[in-house]
Amino acid sequence: MPPELEPVPGTADICVPEVDDWVVLESAARVVFARYGYGEIRTPVFERTDVFVRSIGDETEVVQKEMYTFEDRGGRSLTLRPEGTAGVMRAIANKGLGQGAERRVFYMGPMFRGERPAAGRRRQFHQIGVEAVGCCTPEVDVECIAMLLHYLREIGIADGRVLLNTRGVAADHELVSAALQAHFAPLKERLCNDCQRRLETNVWRILDCKNEACREAVRAAPRMPDLVGPESREFFARVCSGLDALGLAYEVDPGLVRGLDYYEHTVFEVIHSGLGAQDAVAGGGRYRIGLPGVKTAIEGVGFAVGMERLLLVRESLGYRAADETGPDVFVATPGVAAVIPGLVLAQDLRARGLQVQVELGARSMKAQMRTAGKAGAAFVLIQGDAELAEGSVTCKEMASSTQQNVPRAEVVEWICRRQGTESS
Ligand code: HAM
Repeated sequence: MPPELEPVPGTADICVPEVDDWVVLESAARVVFARYGYGEIRTPVFERTDVFVRSIGDETEVVQKEMYTFEDRGGRSLTLRPEGTAGVMRAIANKGLGQGAERRVFYMGPMFRGERPAAGRRRQFHQIGVEAVGCCTPEVDVECIAMLLHYLREIGIADGRVLLNTRGVAADHELVSAALQAHFAPLKERLCNDCQRRLETNVWRILDCKNEACREAVRAAPRMPDLVGPESREFFARVCSGLDALGLAYEVDPGLVRGLDYYEHTVFEVIHSGLGAQDAVAGGGRYRIGLPGVKTAIEGVGFAVGMERLLLVRESLGYRAADETGPDVFVATPGVAAVIPGLVLAQDLRARGLQVQVELGARSMKAQMRTAGKAGAAFVLIQGDAELAEGSVTCKEMASSTQQNVPRAEVVEWICRRQGTESS
């Protein structure tokens, strides 16, 4: 195929039978999240650039290097959403539901980040995410993580590892930043150019720099949760004891800060050994998000799973894309005059719940039988002149190669009997 027909690098076409696996992930999310009181929200795939810059943070990799930003005709700066939380918070604030009211929402859809494509890393990828705003106890975080693990179990992933940490609250940040600055300042010359700047602007971001020299400096850095104040430590302890009480395993990872600046208190990721370097299937945490034109920040907790990565994990666990199933029935049309009666028959059968393909080209019967075989049809129905004259249909069962002349009105019952199902 000419390269012009390939999807842009980092994007993909998702077709049958693979798409059936995507539907499995989406359907399970709807079922599980509903049990915890979450309702669906759909927000635009692009927003004013400000919505992302203000909430995700202008020192993050996502904002600095990965956003697809463009100007619309009115000269407004717009950005394809790199993640779901910011847009969902904008929508919630817009509906006036942020203040005081509890709100639990889930969403699913494409996100866009201009990262270098690799296994499990796409430029258009898909997330299923949840956000719970309005109630800010540590137990909301516990239930949120429990729901994530419930969802993963439901889709066959029971062996993910939960990494957990705290980022403390704004009041701790000065103390934490001072401790980090004291650690990194003597190592400044060894840091990459970006991190040398971050030392002054946002020292936390050095902690998740991907540059090897910076990672070396990060290894010996002072860590949370020891650095945060007593209230934050208490909040974190309640998250940990809640997870313990629910019997959910986790590992405290003091190096986990997450790549988005809106987090405070709890942060978590679920990683899986079935993935390579990009081993996080899910990430989330508690946040406080400020939006343009909104005085009070919105506080909440949530997570997002990466659908492409879930599929990779399921593949590593032996789940296969479902085999394509053929139609129940192929309606063959011996001659042009048989096409419309064939369509009428097909409509009757579809109304009774059968999956039907009709030959609309009236090709030779040999070609039609070949098509029916290739499509995997279970039955071929033929209505030629003779059958139309006597109000019958020739019904051929492909598996047994048997055929029978059946009265037109009894065709559905005949098929259902053969399939061992009830007709509706
Ligand atoms: P995130 O960690 O940036 O968090 O993304 C969540 C998940 O999306 C990742 O764990 C990964 O599975 C998937 N993902 C991210 N980038 C890519 C990519 N380029 N290609 C494929 N998959 C990717 C967030 O987006 C937060 N909004 C999560 C959240 C919700 N926090 C609170 N509420």
